[in-house]
Amino acid sequence: MNPIPYQTVLVTGGAGFIGANFVRLLLDCPGFSGRVVDLDALTYAGNRDNLAEVERRFPGRHRFVHADLADFAAVRRVFSEEPIDAVVHFAAESHVDRSILGPQPFISTNIVGTFHLLEAARTAWAGRCDVRFHHVSTDEVFGSLGEDGKFCETTRYDPRSPYSASKAAADHLVRAYHSTYRLPVTVSNCSNNYGPFQFPEKVVPLMILNAVEGQPLPVYGDGGHVRDWLFVDDHCRAIFAILAEGRDGETYTVGGGCEKTNLALVQEICRLLEERLPAAGNPNLSKRDSPLANYTDLIRFVPDRPGHDRRYAIDFAKIQRELGWSPRVDLTEGLRRTIAWLLDHPEWTRRVRSGEYRQWLERNYDHRPE
Ligand code: NAD
Ligand code: DAU
Repeated sequence: MNPIPYQTVLVTGGAGFIGANFVRLLLDCPGFSGRVVDLDALTYAGNRDNLAEVERRFPGRHRFVHADLADFAAVRRVFSEEPIDAVVHFAAESHVDRSILGPQPFISTNIVGTFHLLEAARTAWAGRCDVRFHHVSTDEVFGSLGEDGKFCETTRYDPRSPYSASKAAADHLVRAYHSTYRLPVTVSNCSNNYGPFQFPEKVVPLMILNAVEGQPLPVYGDGGHVRDWLFVDDHCRAIFAILAEGRDGETYTVGGGCEKTNLALVQEICRLLEERLPAAGNPNLSKRDSPLANYTDLIRFVPDRPGHDRRYAIDFAKIQRELGWSPRVDLTEGLRRTIAWLLDHPEWTRRVRSGEYRQWLERNYDHRPE
């Protein structure tokens, strides 16, 4: 990978799933010799544990700032305290189901928070060209595909959930700052990530942990919705490549070239879990009143998510052609690594689930079989 031409990178949301993986990759990479300033509000999804290794290995190159993007004064203060020359903006409310049940924090963080960050960067950078604001966005801004076709950089926006609408608004603000104020920006729109440190409300860690615990595996609707899956390290490498060589003002769509229906994904998780922890030897399954022979016996079809986008797929030819990026970890290998990581870190799971998430789940989730 080419080196990154920035010395002080402000990462927002670095205590979350992708952010924590990115901070580790960045500090580990020979192509980056600078410092990371990590701004995070530590919501239910942000966890200092995710940064423990980074803080131990790179004490002089990583500063954690506990701040909320809603607090404009705090965001501006970071720019006055640190010689920031690049921003990688991950911080967001990221879970679609939560946005359906309560959209307000999505508006506050994803739209107003992004505006605060842009405004602080614009003021601090005052027309500089040797800086960069990279906005991490999602393929969900494009809406839903039919049986054919793929999203690419020129696909028309058609967000359909409060989450995707808030991310779309943020994308438009970032581009507006580029056109209006010449703020140097790049945007990436990526498909579904999975891997270590992902909060266990998202489908991959949720299904793995529920299966291990002998709990139902709730598949929404008919299970025929299609997502494109990308291992988190591959997404982080794509962002690194864009920071190193991405062109000012450009968007890059990023994906794994790996479309799966949700039902097929859950079946694959069950198959791989069987390799590592056979159901027959798992006391959570074998000691039930009616013992289960297979993890797939735990699958339950539950009522669908409102407005559930049917299919996502990504054409990543542009980033492949221009920056030489392509995904390296296939789904089977990525799921094996994710399963191994979750089974090896039960204390992490216990801690992230013990707080607000557990209460929210009990208040809001009703996975009665259809
Ligand atoms: P996450 O929910 O795991 O982490 C979000 C982080 O942002 C947390 O550390 C949280 O504490 C922090 N945060 C939330 N509100 C904040 C606020 N107001 N101020 C400061 N910090 C705040 O999210 P993730 O899955 O790691 O996603 C990171 C980014 O990548 C998001 O912008 C998301 O839209 C985007 N994205 C995610 C995926 C995916 O599959 N997870 C795919 C494409 C794009
Ligand atoms: O596409 C990128 C997006 O991927 C990111 O922008 C979001 O931040 C990220 O959360 C993710 O959104 P999804 O809604 O696709 O992720 P989730 O893990 O919630 O769901 C993946 C698919 O699995 C989706 O079609 C809904 C389905 N699902 C989800 C859960 C939690 C189930 O069938 N059962 C479940 O229990």
